[in-house]
Amino acid sequence: MSEEFVLLEPEDQPGDEWEKLDVSDTEADRIARRQDREFDEFRKRIKDTEQFKLQESVFDDATLAAIYKLVQDGYVDAFGGPVSTGKEASVFEALGGQAGERPEPGSAAAGGGPEGVHPEREVAVKVYRINSSNFRQMRDYLEGDPRFEGIASDKKAVVLAWTRKEFANLERARKAGVRVPEPIAVQRNVLVMELVGHAEDRARRLSEVDVENPETAYEVVREYMRRLFRAGLIHGDLSEYNMIIHEGELVIIDMGQAVTVHHPNAGEFLDRDCENVATFFTRQGIDVDPDDLYEYVTEPEPDPSGEPESGGESKSGGESKSGGESKSGGESDK
Ligand SMILES: Nc1ncnc2c1ncn2[C@@H]1O[C@H](COP(=O)(O)OP(=O)(O)O)[C@@H](O)[C@H]1O
Ligand SMILES: [Mg+2]
Repeated sequence: MSEEFVLLEPEDQPGDEWEKLDVSDTEADRIARRQDREFDEFRKRIKDTEQFKLQESVFDDATLAAIYKLVQDGYVDAFGGPVSTGKEASVFEALGGQAGERPEPGSAAAGGGPEGVHPEREVAVKVYRINSSNFRQMRDYLEGDPRFEGIASDKKAVVLAWTRKEFANLERARKAGVRVPEPIAVQRNVLVMELVGHAEDRARRLSEVDVENPETAYEVVREYMRRLFRAGLIHGDLSEYNMIIHEGELVIIDMGQAVTVHHPNAGEFLDRDCENVATFFTRQGIDVDPDDLYEYVTEPEPDPSGEPESGGESKSGGESKSGGESKSGGESDK
């Protein structure tokens, strides 16, 4: 791995309003119920492919319908093999469709090339399991999150809300200047996002690589934790297993469980994240104290009109409107 880490600059300032997430019946549910003929063909075709024979239990009809809808809507063109099979979700490589393309302004894809010709990009498709998900635990994370007030407490609704939550969290993190996979589409229990790395050259977890420059990696991680916090989010499962690295770029993943700083257990989750990160980097030979990290992450933002922050390599998220309120997540018994 290369030792250059790049800090992503914030794009714009997150507000402190919380989007209401709609977890009602989706188009995919309707397709699955309607059982239309094309969908039946799609189902047969996809169930016959090698990688899905192994994975069949993941794909109940409604999940297949969600994938079908993503194909129809142009977010996915072709499925590749599994990247990871976890307890709650499986991640697959796939070829992205044109609807998910966001060509760089001025690039050939933005209009320089022939009409409709885009370089195909690979995407990651994360499929949450409805049945074997640990839904009680999921519900505990959702309860206390103002975005999910009053969602039905049945399993399906919880997993669907969870998937939307991961999408929304990725979007919020990205806007706050945290390098995460770009979320592309969400349909029922299926999330399409940027694939970090390539199918033939996979991004690896921090746990799998020799971190050549742990000091810089640590500085990037703590800056991202701080930006997340200032954007009102706590990752909640941050460790070397949920950070991947590709071409020197460190990317935070797996944000389904991330909670807002208003969550009753926010302080506890942040404590745990700090512990995990400190333990990992201490093993890499640098002296990281979890309490110092906690303090760094929760440090109040400097008054934008006042003096610049001392020690300031940090280009923090800037002026968030949440002000002192954002510190509520820091309530722990430290
Ligand atoms: N966007 C992505 N790009 C590349 N690899 C990914 C991406 N998302 C997930 N992965 C791979 O899949 C694994 C599992 O994904 P993750 O979101 O952590 O799900 P889980 O809830 O199963 O831990 C990751 O450890 C990583 O190796
Ligand atoms: Mg994970």
